[in-house]
Amino acid sequence: GDLTVLVTGGAGYIGSHACKALRRAGFTPVAFDNLCNGHRDAVRFGPFVHGDVRDGMAVQQALRDHGAVAVMHFAAFAYVGESMQKPQLYYDNNVGGMLGLLAGCRGAGVNRVVLSSSCATYGQPAVMPITEATPQQPINPYGQTKLICEHMLRDIGAASDLTHVALRYFNAAGADPDGELTERHDPETHLIPLALLAAAGRRGALGIFGTDYPTPDGTCVRDYIHVSDLARAHVLALRHLLAGRGSVALNLGTGQGTSVRQIVAAVENVTGRRVPVQDLPRRPGDPPILLADPGKAAQVLDFRPDHSDITSMVRHAAPSFGLEVANDQGA
Ligand code: NAD
Ligand code: UFG
Repeated sequence: GDLTVLVTGGAGYIGSHACKALRRAGFTPVAFDNLCNGHRDAVRFGPFVHGDVRDGMAVQQALRDHGAVAVMHFAAFAYVGESMQKPQLYYDNNVGGMLGLLAGCRGAGVNRVVLSSSCATYGQPAVMPITEATPQQPINPYGQTKLICEHMLRDIGAASDLTHVALRYFNAAGADPDGELTERHDPETHLIPLALLAAAGRRGALGIFGTDYPTPDGTCVRDYIHVSDLARAHVLALRHLLAGRGSVALNLGTGQGTSVRQIVAAVENVTGRRVPVQDLPRRPGDPPILLADPGKAAQVLDFRPDHSDITSMVRHAAPSFGLEVANDQGA
């Protein structure tokens, strides 16, 4: 039958999209989630197991019950600001979660892991674009916990038959082009969702965090990648591991930069509504520019984003925030 993959955090934003991509590629995704931030109704492409990744026995049991051959590990806390206020929570859930996951894998004899890592592991590099050889020097506890997870996989892999792919996402954006899945974070902190909520009149003005950066229009530049492209990259990473190829870390981005003001303009174009904005001071810890060098993922996985133009990402995200847009072009 189909090969089964345990997807921790499978009820979350990126994990649910990965479950859809796995199903489409002929795998059975088992979503393993404690629903602390996820949504039960986002689990639509395979079985659901309610559990906590810090509980190694629960992970082991789920892997055994479902005969999983690999894990995709999305379950984590992911708010940079919160991680500065409550670092212990982040070490507990993200590092504790990785420990529990690896204990469960060892117990069940599963030795292939795809990890959600982040460009936050790089901190504020001096040189753009960021390659996988750029030094990893996180500037917040969130990024630090993701780097520790990478190091755990590396060190345990060196002493066992564990292999992994660490995927360092840049800015995930958009939602399922078919409209089966949405973007839902509570609280919402991401730029595109907040701009859409402002356009929908469901919030006040969108705050623009810093207008005096050394960038073309003075606002921060980021590398946005469509969540469905991220999901597809996970399937390619899984195939890489199933083919017995070795452990590797890969950036997932496009290499294209988009400023905050360019996002606002795209939201206005796609929705036909004004986005009220308010210029605010810089948000502490925001690097002016983050751009991926996407070359290694292209070379190793033959991965190239194909939905990650800003118009498509905004168009696909809009329904998640109560805005319907014409679906005739740019999809
Ligand atoms: P999300 O909060 O929507 O999904 C995370 C899921 O994990 C949630 O469903 C939550 O309930 C679950 N979870 C958390 N702790 C758990 C635990 N201890 N046991 C079981 N389930 C648990 O977040 P997301 O945006 O989909 O992010 C998914 C992953 O991608 C995270 O690891 C995050 O660090 C990483 N990431 C996200 C971005 C981004 O732009 N959204 C960028 C880089 C990396
Ligand atoms: N921004 C605003 N106003 C807002 C929200 C965001 O101006 O209301 C700006 C931010 O300052 C930043 C850009 O929009 O310049 C994007 O901000 P997001 O919060 O959407 O995303 P980040 O780039 O801060 O965070 C992303 C991921 C994190 C990851 C981080 C690494 O969401 O998981 O990149 O720096 F850790």
